[in-house]
Parts: sequence; structure tokens; C-alpha cells
Amino acid sequence: MNTVIRNGILLSTTGATPADVLVAGEKVAAVAAPESGLADTWAAGADRVIDATGKYVLPGGIDVHTHMEMPFGGTHSADTFETGTTAAAWGGTTTIVDFAVQPKGTSLLSALEAWHGKAAGKAAVDYGFHMIISDVNDATLKEMDACVGAGVNSFKMFMAYPGVFYATDGEILRAMQKAKDIGATIMMHAENGIAIDQLVVQALAEGRTDPVHHGTTRPPELEAEATHRAITLAKVTGAPLYIVHLSASQALSAVAAARDTGQNVFAETCPQYLFLSLDDLGRPDFEGAKYVASPPLRPVEHQDELWRGLRTNDLSVVSTDHCPFCFKDQKQLGKGDFSKIPNGIPGVEHRMDLLHQGVVRGEISLGRWVEIASTTPARMFGLYPRKGVIAPGSDADIVVYDPRARQTLSVRTHHMAVDYSAYEGMSITGRVETVLSRGRIIITGGEFHGRAGHGGFLARDLCQYLT
Ligand code: URP
Ligand code: ZN
Ligand code: ZN
Repeated sequence: MNTVIRNGILLSTTGATPADVLVAGEKVAAVAAPESGLADTWAAGADRVIDATGKYVLPGGIDVHTHMEMPFGGTHSADTFETGTTAAAWGGTTTIVDFAVQPKGTSLLSALEAWHGKAAGKAAVDYGFHMIISDVNDATLKEMDACVGAGVNSFKMFMAYPGVFYATDGEILRAMQKAKDIGATIMMHAENGIAIDQLVVQALAEGRTDPVHHGTTRPPELEAEATHRAITLAKVTGAPLYIVHLSASQALSAVAAARDTGQNVFAETCPQYLFLSLDDLGRPDFEGAKYVASPPLRPVEHQDELWRGLRTNDLSVVSTDHCPFCFKDQKQLGKGDFSKIPNGIPGVEHRMDLLHQGVVRGEISLGRWVEIASTTPARMFGLYPRKGVIAPGSDADIVVYDPRARQTLSVRTHHMAVDYSAYEGMSITGRVETVLSRGRIIITGGEFHGRAGHGGFLARDLCQYLT
């Protein structure tokens, strides 16, 4: 099947340029300047021609931080690989990297097998895995080699959630030493969970049980302290470090300082930290529970610093940390005790649109939009140039985006399997029009044409930014 996308404005990290694109089978075959006239020849032999006049043509979004069917807080995140990747496709994301979870007392490889079981035959777009290490021991450390051999070379650890995922500094040090040896990346949930747990106990004892206290018991300083500690451990061991879901300006300062010294330290933030705030956690009638995630939403002043970090590349990636729990039955588990609210916010469907608002508002350029949402995630997690760029030989994961369309985000129209929208009523300029995944049209004309099982597993190479 050959497809020609013509008359569009091709976006890449270097900006926007008019171009025509030829897709042959699953791959991009050629990119040509419109004045070359090549598209006329291509169109004559094509099965399909997409007129992208006035539209952006950009590489499919890559969301490197999702949690489909993740066990958490006595329940599971509400999206399956089928519903979650379908929602991703609707929003112009054509690759996700999800976290396989090693429950304590089990092996990394059994966790990997379990995640393959959840995703195989279900995903609508391509997917890879990171591994969450919750049990550091000799056997687990050895298994990290096998994970890398199986295309999983990034390992998330937690300085938060004592008793669940928490790892001590000694355990982190050992895993980092191993990562350094094998070229793997350690991804860090950087919050001082030991101190936070004391603040939580105190708050509950004093009757401060509402969702907003999820935020007040996790102050930015405890994210900054943990971020600095993780950076220090990475420096001592030489391991590459990627800070996940960075939310606080003080944590960003620690990342920027490390990057200024040339250390292999990278960080992502998420749309919820750019567009939502502590005020949302304080919504009345338990509505704040919809906004409980860790690290928590911060006072609105942090947002300017995060946008600045995105412009300066101290923040390299925006991923969603998509971890949806329904308000009814799931978030409600924490009524009367905020510490029992399952942590997570849905968002896999809206990342590309929300970041486009950053372009509309003048926070980031068009090139930077593509870079933080697609190209850098691909390079950071060993998928480039198969993913993250529209160039001959790349997978034909392509989004045709109408920058002038208007839409309103709502639970009534989203496709995620969750009963609320964190962005309910938000007005967006721009909209995904057509999505190709490996050459196949999966979204067009407001309809889903994909299928469960179209998405395949991506064995990833090592991080492509290491110095
Ligand atoms: O609140 C969050 N972030 N839930 C998902 C798990 C994690 O820590 O990423
Ligand atoms: Zn986390
Ligand atoms: Zn997460």
C-alpha cells in the first residue's frame, strides 16, 4: 500500500518546511520539496493521496511514560493496552513505552513476561517496556543483563512509596553500578518517601484528610532533595540518570546544575505539571482526588519554570505518566483518607494537543514541540531513527494535524477508559486529523480504523544521548 501526503507543512526538530511524503508499505520512502513535482509522479501510482494543505505533517508522538493495567493502591489503572493505546492514537501518539512492574519477591523476567502477556495482540500502536525494580538483590541485578538483551534497558526505581516500590540509597547505588556496567539508564521517581510518610501520618492524625493534603505533605523541597541525592548517586557510580515526572522548580534547578557539569542526567515533565496546579487538588467535594498523583501538582508559579526548562533543554521530554483511575469506585477508595487515593492522572490522549497549546501560547517553538514529544523520546530510549522522525527508512508513524481546528476536552468525547477528564472543558486550538501507524491509517475523518494487535513490541537500543 503506497500513500502520498502532499501539500503539508513538514515538522521536525529544525522547524517547519513545505514537503510531500511518500509512504511505501510500513516505511517512509521519500520526502520531497513540492516544487520538485515528484509528488505528481508518486500520486499517479499511489493507492491513496492525502491532501494536507494547511496542515502540519509530523512524526507520531512517543509517550515514554505510561501505566496500562498497573496494580496500584489495591486496584488497577483503568486502561488496558487496547483502550489506552487506542486513546493514544486518537491523540496522535503512535508509540508508548510502558512500565512492567516487578512485585517484591518476584523476578524481573517474570514481570516482563506478564507485561508481554498484557500487551500482545491488544495494542493498537507500537510499544516498548521499561522495568520497575522493586526488589534489588543479587538475582535481580543479574537479570538486568537479560532485560537489556530483551530490548528493555531502562529501569525505574523509587525513592518514594516505602513498603511498596521504595529502594534504599544502598539498593539504588547497587542498581546504578550495574546500569553503568551494561549501559542501561536508571529512571528515578525522586521524592523523599521516608520524610513524606511522616508528614502524611501527622496530617491524618490532625484530621487533615482531604485530597489537597496529598499535596501539602509532599513539599517541593522533598522532591528537590531526592533529585539531588539521585544525581549524587549517579555521579558516584557513573550511571546515566533520567528523572521521571519532574514537577518542582527546585528539582529542576538540581537537574540543570548537574547538566551544566556535563553529567548524563536527563529529565521529563508531564502536561499536568504544565497546565494544572495545587488549586485543582483543592477542589471541593472530594473532586481534588481526580488530581492526586505523585509528585503532586504544584502551586501555579512552578509552571513558568517548567516551560523555561523545556526551552533550555534542562527538561528534555514531556511524557504523560498516564495512570488512570476512575473517580467512582477507584479514587473514592481514599474518601476520608487522602493517602488511600490511588495515585495517577489520565492523559495519554491529550499530550500532543496540550503541548501544541504551548506553541500557540508562545512557550515553545514548533520544532521544540516535535522534539520534546517525539524525536527526543525516540533518541532517549533507543528508538531513533526508526521512530521520532519522518525520513526515508523510518517507520511511517505520521500525524496530520490541523493547527486551526478548535476542540474542547471532555470525558464525553475522550477515548480513555476513565470516567473523568482532568482537563474537562479546556479549549484547545489544534486537532489531530489523520494518524498513520507503520503506514496504515488508524485515525481519519473522526473515526478509528486501527485494530487491537496492530501494535508490535519494540526492542529498544541503549540511550542515544550518552557521552
Ligand atoms: O502518581 C503517579 N505518578 N502514579 C503512577 C506511578 C508513578 O509513580 O509513576
Ligand atoms: Zn513515579
Ligand atoms: Zn509513572
